[in-house]
Amino acid sequence: MVDNPRRIKSYVLRAARMSEAQKLAYDKLSPRWCVSHDQVFDWEHHFPQASRRVVEIGFGMGDATRRLAVHQKDWGILGVEVHRPGVGKLLWWMDEEKIENIRIVEHDAVEVLQKAIAPESVDGVHIWFPDPWPKKRHHKRRLIQVEFISLVMQILRPGGYIHAATDWQPYADHILETLQSVSGLSNKYPDWAPKPEYRPDTKFEARGVAADRVIRDIVFEKEAL
Ligand SMILES: C[S@@+](CC[C@H](N)C(=O)[O-])C[C@H]1O[C@@H](n2cnc3c(N)ncnc32)[C@H](O)[C@@H]1O
Repeated sequence: MVDNPRRIKSYVLRAARMSEAQKLAYDKLSPRWCVSHDQVFDWEHHFPQASRRVVEIGFGMGDATRRLAVHQKDWGILGVEVHRPGVGKLLWWMDEEKIENIRIVEHDAVEVLQKAIAPESVDGVHIWFPDPWPKKRHHKRRLIQVEFISLVMQILRPGGYIHAATDWQPYADHILETLQSVSGLSNKYPDWAPKPEYRPDTKFEARGVAADRVIRDIVFEKEAL
């Protein structure tokens, strides 16, 4: 997947309306907690003691991310999101709850994986409730495609994992097929994974459950050589 400005994006950036609190948090805290998308992230510098280095892609408003960070204090989490109000909201949470084990990159995850994360430096990649793009003509916008998973494979250490979750069964089927087709990745389960205890419930999950949809977790490991 080359860095091409005309590449089909997995998101649409709408005029970002931010609340006053999100704006204040963004202005005050982004210099402290946000990192650049075109420099390689220094895990050792930011999280010298981390027992797990995790990249969380598309954190939305950051609710699951902040709860993950609070419950897993010894993990270092690099959150990637393009939606500025979400970045502002997560920064606001970090301030409220004195969270120090999150850093944020406000940029397209495709380029972040290409340029800002060293090969084999990551223990886990989370993609929770990615936009399902349900219409057939939009399927090409789905983030989880073979090319994207090849980028994930580059940054994962051997034995590292990718964990996707979705409430949209056709996307779950697509994710399962895509991950199965990538050599060097193996499913830890026959198909769907039991919900890992570290994944907090999210608004998207609650919405799916309220609409009687089944939540699917999918966890694959990068095979050790
Ligand atoms: C449906 S939301 C899910 C949010 C969150 N993971 C949750 O479970 O509550 C998907 C998010 O992914 C973000 N996103 C989509 N494509 C992205 C990309 N290429 N890089 C970074 N963020 C992306 C969108 O902006 C959106 O906030």
